[in-house]
Amino acid sequence: MENNKYYFICRNCGNKIEGFGQWFYDGQKCPACGGKWVDAKYTNDYLKLPDLINNRAGHPDSLFHYFDYLPLHDRNNIVTEGEGVIPVDRWKFLEEFALKYYGLDLTVLAYRNDKNPGTGTFKDVAAAVVASVLKENGIKEYCVASTGNIASAFAHYLALAGISLSVFIPDDALKANEAGVGCYGQRVFRVRGDYSLAKKLCAEFSKKHNINMSGGNIDPARVEAKKTQVFEWLRQLGYIPDVYIQALAGGTGPIAIHKGLEDIRHLKLFKKEPRYMLIQASGCNPMTMAWEQAKLEGFTEGWKNRFPILNHPETCIPTLANGNPQTYPILAQLVQSTGGEFLTFDENLHVSVARLISFESSVLIGPAAAIAVGGFFEALKTGAVRNGERVMINIGEGIQRAPELFEKMIFTTERVSSVDECLPSNRNNYREQLYHPFLP
Ligand SMILES: Cc1ncc(COP(=O)(O)O)c(C=O)c1O
Ligand SMILES: [Zn+2]
Repeated sequence: MENNKYYFICRNCGNKIEGFGQWFYDGQKCPACGGKWVDAKYTNDYLKLPDLINNRAGHPDSLFHYFDYLPLHDRNNIVTEGEGVIPVDRWKFLEEFALKYYGLDLTVLAYRNDKNPGTGTFKDVAAAVVASVLKENGIKEYCVASTGNIASAFAHYLALAGISLSVFIPDDALKANEAGVGCYGQRVFRVRGDYSLAKKLCAEFSKKHNINMSGGNIDPARVEAKKTQVFEWLRQLGYIPDVYIQALAGGTGPIAIHKGLEDIRHLKLFKKEPRYMLIQASGCNPMTMAWEQAKLEGFTEGWKNRFPILNHPETCIPTLANGNPQTYPILAQLVQSTGGEFLTFDENLHVSVARLISFESSVLIGPAAAIAVGGFFEALKTGAVRNGERVMINIGEGIQRAPELFEKMIFTTERVSSVDECLPSNRNNYREQLYHPFLP
C-alpha cells in the first residue's frame, strides 16, 4: 500500500523506514544498523490535533479518534471495543489527606484505565493498535512474553481480529491472566522460571518458527497507542499534569507519554512535561535500587547503565515482576530530566490501598494500580510532590485482573446466627482504620 501518512526513523542511525510493511519484512529492526528503537513520524505534523482535542471533530468513541496519528492506513483494519477514551476523575479525598497531613494543596487526578472495555487495563489501548496493525499487514500469528496483563489484552484483541497468539508467562503469573489468554483459544506457555526466561523462550520460539514477536516496551505499535493518552488529557483537562504517577514494570507508559509530548511540542499546547514518578513494588524494585545508588554516588559517569538484575524476584504483584530492567537507561534519563523520582512502595500494603480506594471512591483497583496509588502516599512521605501541583495517578487496571485481591478486600463481615447479633452499621466508622496504614 502507498504510504505517505507516516514513516519510522531509526533512533540509532537516523535511517528512514517505510512503516510497518517494511518493519515486519525486515524482521522488526532497522535494515541499516539492526536497531530496534524507531520513532513514528507523521507527514501532516499533527496539524489536525488541535481540532481533535477541542472536540470539534465530535466526541471520541475510542483512541482511533486519533487515527490520523496512528500507524495505520485503512480504517477498515481498526480493531476496537471503545478503549482509550476513559475518564479522568478527581480524587478529592486524597487532596484532603495531602492538605491535612502534609499541608500540601494539590489537585489529584485518577486516570481510569480500569474502565477500558477489553480487559480493564491500560494494555487494552496497546492491544487494540497492535491487533489493527497486524491485521493491516496480513499477519496471522504472533507471540509475546508478558508478566500477565499484556498477555490478556493481546489475547483478547488478537482473537477479535482472528489472529493466533502464543503467550509466554512466568511461573508466578496470576491465574486470571492465564485464563484471560486460554479462554480465547490462544496458546499459553507458562515457563518454569521468571519473566526473563519467558522473554528468552519467546524470542527463541519466534526465531525457530519465524513468528513475529512483540517488540516489548519500545514496540512502535505500543508506544504509538499509549501516546494518545497525552491527547486525551489535553482534550479532557486542557493541560498536562505536573506529576505523573504510574506503577513501573518496563516503562512503556512514560516512554510513550514523552514521545507524544515531543511529537506535538511545536503546537505549543502544553507548558511542561510532567515529572515522572515511577513506582516499583518492594518485592521487585531494581530500578529504584539503581536510582537510589546513583543518587548516593552523585550521578557519576555511566550511572544510567548501572542497574541490578534480580533473578526470580519474589513479589506478590506478579504483573510488575520485571527483574531485568533493560529500559532503565531510557527511563532514568526521563526521570532525571523532568525532576521526577523512582520510588518503592511496600507491597504488603496493597490490599489496604485497594480497600481505602474502594471505600472512598467506589473504584475497584487491581494490584498494580494499588502500587501506583501507594506511590502517591510514598511521594507525600518523601517530599517528592510540591505544593500546588496537579498530580495524575494512572489507575492502570481494575480488580477483574486479580480475583485473589478482591477476596482479600473483605473486611466488614461478621458471622451471625441470630438477629440479636446484628447491629445497625455506619460505614463512616471504618474510615479511620482504613487510613491508618498511610498516616505519616
Ligand atoms: C496495571 C499495570 N500498571 C503498570 C504496569 C507497568 O507498565 P509499564 O510497561 O509502563 O511499566 C503494568 C504492566 O506491566 C500494568 O498492567
Ligand atoms: Zn538504524
